[in-house]
Amino acid sequence: MARYKVTVVGAGNVGATTAHWIASKELADVVLIDIVEGAAKGKALDLAESSPVFKFDLNITGASTYETTADSDVVVVTAGVPRKKDPVTGQFPSRADLVKTNQAIVAGAVKEVVKYSPNTIIIVVSNPLDAMCHVALKESGFPSNRVVGMAGSLDTARYKTFIAMETGLSVKDVHGIVLGGHGDEMVPLPRHTSIAGIPVRELISEERLQAIIERTRKGGGEIVGLLGYSGYYAPAAGAYEMVEAILRDQKRVIPSAVYLQGEYGYKDLYIGVPAVLGKGGVERVIEMQLNDEEKAMLEISAKAVRDVVSILGYE
Ligand code: NAI
Ligand code: 2OP
Repeated sequence: MARYKVTVVGAGNVGATTAHWIASKELADVVLIDIVEGAAKGKALDLAESSPVFKFDLNITGASTYETTADSDVVVVTAGVPRKKDPVTGQFPSRADLVKTNQAIVAGAVKEVVKYSPNTIIIVVSNPLDAMCHVALKESGFPSNRVVGMAGSLDTARYKTFIAMETGLSVKDVHGIVLGGHGDEMVPLPRHTSIAGIPVRELISEERLQAIIERTRKGGGEIVGLLGYSGYYAPAAGAYEMVEAILRDQKRVIPSAVYLQGEYGYKDLYIGVPAVLGKGGVERVIEMQLNDEEKAMLEISAKAVRDVVSILGYE
């Protein structure tokens, strides 16, 4: 078996859980990096100590500096700060402040990654997702096929989960896709959703379908409302799915944030579209034939992404 190496930057909830999924599937050696050295080393050691039970034969290590990440095949960037109340003022930071804070974190991480793994493929997870992909592209200097964002994989998984719950049918038979930016304006596509090939509208009423679409759009917020912080099992599963597709050269079609160069009528913009993922990273964008209503929804989502990207201050 080829031995792969994956670095996960940010050993918080999403990062550590991504490492967990990778280990449990025996996919790759993992280096966990965190600014808090104890968190990276402690979670890596804890995970490694589960290997005799689950019999995964991998090296899992943690660090706060990047030397041990050298020659990673894939790097998953989850470092960032969440949107939370200031304990002193009780105020939430402005969106622009949060964007700037995470921009600095992602930029710093990416510069280090590139120093040690100049040929790697970067999967961005940090929020605001689509904007942080722009940061990773700019700071890495990589071609855009080697900088891709994880969101569509998660948003589509949520959408499929809700459809399976509604119908009582196996989630394995639910097919569908969510396009657009990772925000409330994302674009679930019911016209392209089926259960074992049966159009979803034959099985779910329009009213319930629209409720599912709305729930999908607010899926991140629903978890935050329950937990008080954001989800990580499904986000990490989304990241895992992309890592696996790339390492195993699967040519999977996974909705991913991709730097569009004219596809869907957009240029120089990261947004979620069906991407073919394989050993070359984003090997191809599949252009679906959208109707006018779907195009209009994608445009609303693209505008929301552009508004955030404009805060970054890149040309
Ligand atoms: P978390 O707070 O549990 O973990 C973040 C980790 O990043 C912390 O351990 C922190 O110490 C570390 N960190 C901060 N600055 C760093 C730096 N300069 N270098 C290295 N590590 C650094 O947060 P969680 O839940 O793991 O989420 C991580 C990010 O992923 C957030 O931005 C979150 O909004 C985003 N997210 C994105 C999703 C998506 O669909 N794209 C889904 C879920 C979360
Ligand atoms: C999510 O969708 C917060 O982006 C994060 O769960």
